[in-house]
Amino acid sequence: MTTLGTPRIHHRKVDSTNRHARELAEQGAPHGTLVTAAEQSAGRGRQGRAWSAPAGTGLLMSVLLRDPYPLLSLAAGAAVADTAAHFRPDQEVLIKWPNDVWLEGKKVAGILVEGRPQERWAVLGIGLNVAISQDQFPPELRTSATSLGRDKSELEAVLTKLLDALSVWTSANRADVLAAVRQRNALRRRSVSWADGQGVVADIDDEGRLLVETQRCIAALDAGEVHLNLD
Ligand code: BTN
Repeated sequence: MTTLGTPRIHHRKVDSTNRHARELAEQGAPHGTLVTAAEQSAGRGRQGRAWSAPAGTGLLMSVLLRDPYPLLSLAAGAAVADTAAHFRPDQEVLIKWPNDVWLEGKKVAGILVEGRPQERWAVLGIGLNVAISQDQFPPELRTSATSLGRDKSELEAVLTKLLDALSVWTSANRADVLAAVRQRNALRRRSVSWADGQGVVADIDDEGRLLVETQRCIAALDAGEVHLNLD
């Protein structure tokens, strides 16, 4: 098992921890290098979206992984989900494939993996809402986003737990990662649509792809965005 989080660079404010971690990767920083921030001015999300959070209310972190784990995106989802479950054992924690983490049906964390496979590194960026009150979310996110509902003073404890969980899950065997993600699969038997079709989610296959039953076939989605249809 590898230790993640050393060296660590912490910013009071940065454009994007992922952007900075990528720059450090290109400069030869070691495996496990961690960039954190209290606030980002240009936080990046998946599919070209932005990620924003009021200063000091959540974890904003990016960790550099050399020779990254093949199922990194799913392993990261499992690690963030375990961390959320540790701090909110009273609430249901599920993963919306590929790796959004939901607490009681609302998104509590997002994960953005960026990298250079040919140079054998990846930057794993995680935004985890820890202490944001519902009224601090922009109105359009209030019904779909949530936070762990813990105190700001616990941010470092959440980070420590998350780094431990990431070390465990990025060294685990792939069958265990797949089992953990299948067990928390928020989309199971749900009706979904994506750019090229719609259907009902059956499972996650051994490559980590989402299997969706359509009228004509079983589609295996390996990237991109799926939208939940109203049942
Ligand atoms: C998503 O759900 O769209 C992924 C969001 C990832 C956000 C995190 S916050 C820390 C890191 N730095 C970034 O610029 N993005 C990721």
